[in-house]
Amino acid sequence: MHQTIKPSADILTRAPTILVFDSGLGGLTVHREIVRLRPDARFVYCADDAAFPYGRLSEDHLISRVLAVMERLIATHQPDCVVIACNTASTLVMPHLRQRFALPFVGTVPAIKPACEQSASRLVSVLATPGTVARDYTRSLIAEFGLGCTVTLVGSVHLASLAEAVMRGEPADEPAIAAEIAPCFVVEGDRRTDTVVLACTHYPLLVETFRRVAPFAVTWIDPAPAIARRVVQLLGPARPAAKAAPAVALLTDGAARGALAAVFSGFGIGETLIDPLPLH
Ligand code: DGL
Repeated sequence: MHQTIKPSADILTRAPTILVFDSGLGGLTVHREIVRLRPDARFVYCADDAAFPYGRLSEDHLISRVLAVMERLIATHQPDCVVIACNTASTLVMPHLRQRFALPFVGTVPAIKPACEQSASRLVSVLATPGTVARDYTRSLIAEFGLGCTVTLVGSVHLASLAEAVMRGEPADEPAIAAEIAPCFVVEGDRRTDTVVLACTHYPLLVETFRRVAPFAVTWIDPAPAIARRVVQLLGPARPAAKAAPAVALLTDGAARGALAAVFSGFGIGETLIDPLPLH
């Protein structure tokens, strides 16, 4: 059991800085839930777009990449709490981050426990990146919390990029999206999948399209509200009447800065900066 590091003692009397981190735009689905509960906080959102998508990186490469980016972000922005709004990174990197930095970290991992608790058909699917599907951590969540459900792991190669395209204003490629989610829909005799875990933070961005193209209705589980509650447990509730500090987004590549800045502004982030950190 690791010990959770507590934020600094004066945290209830000032606006905390919350760093939300992902490979791209997916972490915005977590960011918006945290903003709902802590509108007074100062938010720094980092999209490591130079390394997107994380799902294709080897485990060693991903660990060293996230540690390198985090080293710089923490030194520059001095967050009170870091939210890794990425399943692909969280299912691998959390112990390394906690060992390296004396800060509270909140991860995002597949919501297998609540999904299996609420499934009536006992057929649950986990829609993730190939990286998350391959993790020992994901397998151990199923072993520990699967409650005897049959859990189908679906590692989508293209969905995160399809979500990024939609966010940048391209029309949703519905046939491609339908093909990516199709393996989630399992029928066994008179039972069929009734619950699908959205185990990549990019996927809630497409959930309305998923509903439209799904072969049958299921419950889609998005862990973002639970992550936001965890942040409040660590940092305390919003301070009444406190004014929100302006939020900032950071890109490690920035080639698509114009399109991304428009997306960030739709999530209440008015400034988009580039801090180049090429992927080696
Ligand atoms: N948003 C990330 C996640 O939750 C993954 C997307 C990627 O492959 O970079 O897993």
